[in-house]
Amino acid sequence: MPPTGWLNDPNGLCQFEGIYHLYYQYAPDDCFGGDKYWGHYSTKDFITFKNEPVALFPDCSLDAGGAYSGSTIIKDNKMYVYYTGNVKYPGKHDYIHTGRDHNTIMVISDDGINFGEKVCLMKNDDYPDDLTLHVRDPQIIKNGDHYYMILGARTNQDVGCCLLYRSDDLVNYKLVNRIISNEPFGYMWECPDLFCLDGRLCLVCCPQGVEPMGTEYQNVHQCTVFCLDYDFRENTIRLNSQFPEMVDRGFDFYAPQTFLDEQGRRILIGWMGIPDAEYTNPTVKAGWQHALTMPRLLHMREGRLLQQPLEEMKELRRDRRDYDFWELGKGVETGLVFEACLSMESCSDMCLTIRDDVTLSYEDGLLTLDMGTSGSGRTRRSVLLEQLTDLRIFSDTTSLEIFVNDGLEVFTTRVYGDRPGMRIKGKCCGTVSVYELSGFIYE
Ligand code: FRU
Repeated sequence: MPPTGWLNDPNGLCQFEGIYHLYYQYAPDDCFGGDKYWGHYSTKDFITFKNEPVALFPDCSLDAGGAYSGSTIIKDNKMYVYYTGNVKYPGKHDYIHTGRDHNTIMVISDDGINFGEKVCLMKNDDYPDDLTLHVRDPQIIKNGDHYYMILGARTNQDVGCCLLYRSDDLVNYKLVNRIISNEPFGYMWECPDLFCLDGRLCLVCCPQGVEPMGTEYQNVHQCTVFCLDYDFRENTIRLNSQFPEMVDRGFDFYAPQTFLDEQGRRILIGWMGIPDAEYTNPTVKAGWQHALTMPRLLHMREGRLLQQPLEEMKELRRDRRDYDFWELGKGVETGLVFEACLSMESCSDMCLTIRDDVTLSYEDGLLTLDMGTSGSGRTRRSVLLEQLTDLRIFSDTTSLEIFVNDGLEVFTTRVYGDRPGMRIKGKCCGTVSVYELSGFIYE
């Protein structure tokens, strides 16, 4: 959560000399957004967090309208940080075709706390002519001797895509390709994140303007993953599927970033929020809004993205209680802050009350999260599942992160009811362990 005010995308995630740096889009004075800074937490263990000074301010003509999202790559013991400097000009503009600068900016840091001069690497005239003024959110990966920068973009025809630039020195970039779906998939792709995972190349990005298809793409904006074949020598690209998979099934998940830590783990953290949603967050009464997700370890399994809470989260566990499902049928008070691990021996249908009247039900192969009266406008989200084998549920005061079938699906949502009470009914048998959880520590 932000110390105060507004938080959105995680930015610049990295581990540098043992310390994890979590930057994020931050508007400290305005819990409805505003000009974005880069807020900053650091942690050594994902349990104790230090609130560091703001890393980047929108303080010059290159980024006067906000230091927008970006990423970090480490080279020769230095952090190279890239972000979009947003500038909006007063006047009659739609800010899509006119009225905006979108500068790709680099800053270097030796310690993650102090940052050097802001260097503008690309400005409006440097991007391809057929694009609108929506080109942003640089991310860098290394392949062989080259670095690649990927940017999210919107064309004049309102088609979302990514631009791929190559560099040998992290400073000069040349456009080498464009990643685009066979059929248009939304009008804008925000926050692209390209990475290799267990031998596959994945592109996570956030397409806007996609119509719902059955249970898919129900949120106002999407967060999806494409697998792709990319020949870095020939610069040929092939997306493996027409439609990408959803990264998360809940109401509040957007703009995640991944990074490789010093142990070689591919870790994902998302924004537990979404822009332009109809539902609300009553936390605004207390002067703040939104949060980041827990860190998640990523793997590929049979061509699909697997997300699991990072091992470190087990350090939060305190008292443990074990039940058979039939005992849980009688109703068990667990408090609001808990981790529940359910393992199904069999399950043809079930209805699990998580807290208040928030339920997760499985019927006819459909797993549905229903927010009851606790959603502040959030209603129902579903996913088709051939079988339900296990659930791992993290319930915090105002959030739920539900990992399904070992992490093949995840539901992330804010939740605002305050009555505990977990129970299960239906044709299912299995066991559940409920752990009380301690809070994260903020220094
Ligand atoms: C995604 C996003 C990014 C942008 C940032 C601004 O949520 O719109 O595309 O850089 O937020 O805060």
